[in-house]
Amino acid sequence: MDDRTTRRVLLGVTGGVAAYKAAELARALLRNNVEVRVAMTDAGTRFVTPATFQALTGRPVATDLWDAGFTSGMAHIELSRGVDAIVVAPASANFLAKLAHGLADDLLSTTCLARACPLLVAPAMNREMWDNPATQRNLALLRGDGVAILGPAAGDQACGEVGMGRLLEPEELLQAILDFLSPKRLAGRKVLVTAGPTFEAIDTVRGITNQSSGRMGYAIAAAAAAMGADVTLVSGPTSLPPPASAHFVYVTSAAEMLNAVNAHAGAADLFFSVAAVADYTPEAPAARKIKKSGEPLEIKLRPTVDILAQVARMPGGPFCVGFAAESENLAEYAQAKRRKKAIPMIVANLVQHTVGREENEVTIYDEAGAHALARAPKSRIARAIVEHAVALFEARGGAPRLATVKQAS
Ligand code: CTP
Repeated sequence: MDDRTTRRVLLGVTGGVAAYKAAELARALLRNNVEVRVAMTDAGTRFVTPATFQALTGRPVATDLWDAGFTSGMAHIELSRGVDAIVVAPASANFLAKLAHGLADDLLSTTCLARACPLLVAPAMNREMWDNPATQRNLALLRGDGVAILGPAAGDQACGEVGMGRLLEPEELLQAILDFLSPKRLAGRKVLVTAGPTFEAIDTVRGITNQSSGRMGYAIAAAAAAMGADVTLVSGPTSLPPPASAHFVYVTSAAEMLNAVNAHAGAADLFFSVAAVADYTPEAPAARKIKKSGEPLEIKLRPTVDILAQVARMPGGPFCVGFAAESENLAEYAQAKRRKKAIPMIVANLVQHTVGREENEVTIYDEAGAHALARAPKSRIARAIVEHAVALFEARGGAPRLATVKQAS
């Protein structure tokens, strides 16, 4: 892919109740500066009419292999040339089977077979169809052919059953497609991310922690990986699954997080310190469970090392991005933290707007001032944060370093 800012996608819609989500996806792609052309199978047109997609995209919808409207007379070739990817959503079990075996008996399957671009498919079907060994065999073949499989998700199904096979939600599909299309600006770069809370032991069963879910840090790690970075994610205790796209280091306490960061920071180009690290830890955690006595109990706390400030002081260290959760005076406190820690960029939010939520509303502060990002899902905010950091990093000479490495090899 080149440096064009506009991406082009052919959206294939096959037969399934979930076809209505494809209409939402087409709109979301267009809003994100992705040009969309739609091709539908005959079964797809039974669920949502081509007129809907034509109105949404402002372009005729391709349904017919023999459509005389294509100047070359070869619709399947014209449709698949000049696009950055073909995305089939929803992809029915039948369509996946055709793709896996190279069948080409309608416009969309012929276009997929004739493509010269990546193919992404988002399966949607009844859970028994999904679990059927034939479907799983076909998916394995498609994976082996380099086809990206998006989802499916588990949950309530249109047929009334519950299980695996739901089409991903339009926003999830959008993020996956944008990740796929995003220029790999961090290729060859190492990115270190901390996420989640820490847990500071008081005794063998109790401890001090906080409400950080880890979602923002995990989303930052995924966004950096989608931009081509080699990502290490150092995470405190969260209930999130480790992201497949990052090296994962699980830690518990602030001291363990410090050790893990020290082990990786030297090699990192960028460091995103998203973790809500405890500022204090019990001075002498009890070696056994503390028994209650009815008397007041005092636990002496000592300050922890400020991991971010320490990395920021490393000579030749990574470009550092801090995070600040405040309950008031956002701009003043965030800029003061940024200067105190001597970091080029800090991402700040009001705690009441974010903790435990899927969406976030943040402001980036750097030397140029404040850059407010509109409220959006954490995955989208994460991408914008990483893009802002990469732009500053490149402006400071990050790009020439990569160029030097390239010339030497
Ligand atoms: N941080 C860190 N190590 C610590 C404490 C914080 O790396 N021991 C990092 C966090 O990951 C985050 C930033 O520093 O990027 C937060 O700054 P900080 O001043 O510690 O924020 P708060 O803990 O919210 O400070 P305060 O309670 O004073 O507002």
